Amino acid sequence: MGERLTCIGIESTAHTFGIGIVKYHPFQILCDVRRVYRPVSGGIHPSEAARHHIEKAVEALEEAMSRVDLKQVDIVAFARGPGLGPCLRVGAALARMLSLKLEKPLVGVNHAASHINIARALTRAIDPVVLYVSGGNTQVIYASEGKYVILGETEDIAVGNLIDVFARKAGLGFPGGPKVMELASKSRRLLKLPYSVKGMNVSFSGMLTMLEGLVGKEPVEDLCFSLQETAFSMLIEVSERAMAMLGVKEFIIAGGVGANARLRQMAGKMCEERNAVFKDYPIEYYADNGVMIAWEGIIQYMLGEKLNVEDSMVKPRWRIVDVKPPPSGLYEN
Ligand code: ATP
Ligand code: FE2
Repeated sequence: MGERLTCIGIESTAHTFGIGIVKYHPFQILCDVRRVYRPVSGGIHPSEAARHHIEKAVEALEEAMSRVDLKQVDIVAFARGPGLGPCLRVGAALARMLSLKLEKPLVGVNHAASHINIARALTRAIDPVVLYVSGGNTQVIYASEGKYVILGETEDIAVGNLIDVFARKAGLGFPGGPKVMELASKSRRLLKLPYSVKGMNVSFSGMLTMLEGLVGKEPVEDLCFSLQETAFSMLIEVSERAMAMLGVKEFIIAGGVGANARLRQMAGKMCEERNAVFKDYPIEYYADNGVMIAWEGIIQYMLGEKLNVEDSMVKPRWRIVDVKPPPSGLYEN
């Protein structure tokens, strides 16, 4: 592991087209360029988002090249999945082109593992329970020796999806997270919503149905507050159960919903009460970005992963359990 590696990473799984460049060792972010697609109406339209990425790819690459000389790059990584097929293919095409042009190895990485590992790199968490919460995922994960283990997950929709669908129904636009957080801070009135925890699994569809029915009948601030308090309490309860079961003393959150201040506050409190540590990091790295793809590219390259361009098709349904976690010891120095 003595060599110094520089990786360019391309993220394009959903709403964000991102290019990040990371150097290791030591871990250093050299550049972080993002272009975010905002739908005019409704949620994400895959083909529209893909068109956005195509339109922004060149200027994003030019911006990255104005910061870092690509001659420094040793590895080209892209988010291979999971994600929206048309969006994934934009990032994959750019990565293949760069890999051929720069004559550097191509590495396809898993978006979920990338969220987790950027959190670990920024916090130096060595043995954490991870709550992965985003628009498409809600999982409690532990990276044990050699594999990721999913300890709990949603039985229906992701928490980010609950927030986004509710927000759309309430006319708050997409993505709903930041707006819901802002409105929630203006209320202290807790409405009773379905609290659904089964072991280490959660379920949000009942809560969504009820919230949708209350739009226009109750003040939107109270709905946002109640959604956050109820959904986040469920998530913190299952995370705490996982930590207790494993005897783990570190907790991190990964994925876009982690940008929520109230969720992170609850996480801090839970850890304090059980003599554990919630490891937080700058909120811009909770959301999708190219830096996390570049870092995961370095990890997977060190683990021996490499793709031939002709075998590099995207994997829209790639599960994290089929991915190797970083070698133990990586975050200890
Ligand atoms: P994944 O493939 O990991 O599911 P994603 O496409 O959902 O990725 P992320 O950037 O990881 O992308 O997460 C986006 C989600 O985060 C959206 O559902 C958005 O509403 C939510 N979000 C963003 N900011 C906040 C916030 N402040 N509070 C709550 N949720 C937030
Ligand atoms: Fe994501």
